[in-house]
Amino acid sequence: MLHEDVLRRRREQTGGSLAEVVRAFGHALDLADGQPDGHSTRACYLGCLLGQEIGLAPRELGELFFVLLLKDLGSSANAARIGEIFQTDDLHFKRALKTLPANRPARLRALVAQCARDRPLARRIPVIANFLLHRDAIAQELVQLRASRGATLAAGLGLAPAICSGIYHLDEHWDGSGRPSHLSGAAIPLYARIAQIAQVADIFYIHGGPSAAIDEVTARAGRQLDPSLAEAFGRVAERARSWADLGSTALPGMLFTLVPEARDMLIDEDALDRLAAVFGQVVDAKSAYTAGHSTRLVVLVDRVAARLGMLPARRRALCRAAALHDVGKLGIPTTILDKPSALGESEWELMRGHAGRTRALLGKIGIFSEMAAFAAAHHERLDGMGYPSGLDDAAIARETRIITVCDFYDALTSNRPYRPALSPAEALAAMQAEVGKGIDGEVFAALQSVL
Ligand SMILES: [Fe+2]
Ligand SMILES: [Fe+2]
Repeated sequence: MLHEDVLRRRREQTGGSLAEVVRAFGHALDLADGQPDGHSTRACYLGCLLGQEIGLAPRELGELFFVLLLKDLGSSANAARIGEIFQTDDLHFKRALKTLPANRPARLRALVAQCARDRPLARRIPVIANFLLHRDAIAQELVQLRASRGATLAAGLGLAPAICSGIYHLDEHWDGSGRPSHLSGAAIPLYARIAQIAQVADIFYIHGGPSAAIDEVTARAGRQLDPSLAEAFGRVAERARSWADLGSTALPGMLFTLVPEARDMLIDEDALDRLAAVFGQVVDAKSAYTAGHSTRLVVLVDRVAARLGMLPARRRALCRAAALHDVGKLGIPTTILDKPSALGESEWELMRGHAGRTRALLGKIGIFSEMAAFAAAHHERLDGMGYPSGLDDAAIARETRIITVCDFYDALTSNRPYRPALSPAEALAAMQAEVGKGIDGEVFAALQSVL
């Protein structure tokens, strides 16, 4: 039997290829970083072509692959601070930041324009003044938050130190003006230097096509970007094939052909647990109000499901769904998530949209597709008045009911921008009034007994 056949059969017997699952999770990071969908996959492809061009060994290409896909793993960690400091939508801000002009005065003007950009001038002035007075410390804090969180989460996935370090140093600049460590030149890890070029190239490619990507990489060479890598990228960019592939639906397959070492790493049950836990933490990090929410939910869901007699293998899958139930929240700005006053109708619509986005994101990850439906239905109600689909008693699965009850309890017992946390007794009393209308009585009884 051919080697390829053996590997394919083994992939089917286990949870599949680690690289395929990680690539699918990249869509969640695109959302978290305010980038167009598919950015991480396209950047990964461009970066791997560049790695191949400069003659990286197969093992190095395999490591580079994970740096490129997970470069934005820490992105949600500074979202709340961006909202606080700049009084603006963090996702819009992150998008704008990636296309700021290279020259310093123009950059500064563009950043000032982002300060409380939707507010009247009188409200903007203190935000602008605070930014101008503390801009060095602010930049350091925001990059440090993102870098540390990204590297820590990558280590939590069990990835090699070289991969974690590539993610940590993504925002260093060739001329030493970057952060968090002000490294310069070849002291910046090679994977980080490649990832920066791939990132800039994809963002400008999406804005203005191949020529915009090439022009921007050339313009930033020697300042932000490694000049010899930028030159090598120029050779990659000359091949029309590179750009044609980016728009193809077959891009994920082409990526794995380019880096077979990554594709052949199989995923097991433990790795799936780690991935779900890490991406649950990416979601929790977006707001101080949801810190620890997904992690606590997993513990509670597991105990309630055990009390209801669910078998361990099923519980394990359910816990992954619980960890990822709010992954669609990555697409909501923190100005809405953390808003202390009532939400407007359009803001509510965006908020309710997180359930559908959870289903769309998890649905892209083959192994999570069944759990995607259970996780995405966690705001449905037995009386049919929930969202996103208005399912009713007859249509809501038991797995969903467990997540819903535990999610409700954790939400009530956590602080919210508009109210303090309820005590466990107050939360249970509020939930009791919803039994049979919003939530399932048997699951609620199981929650009470495990508490
Ligand atoms: Fe939710
Ligand atoms: Fe939740």
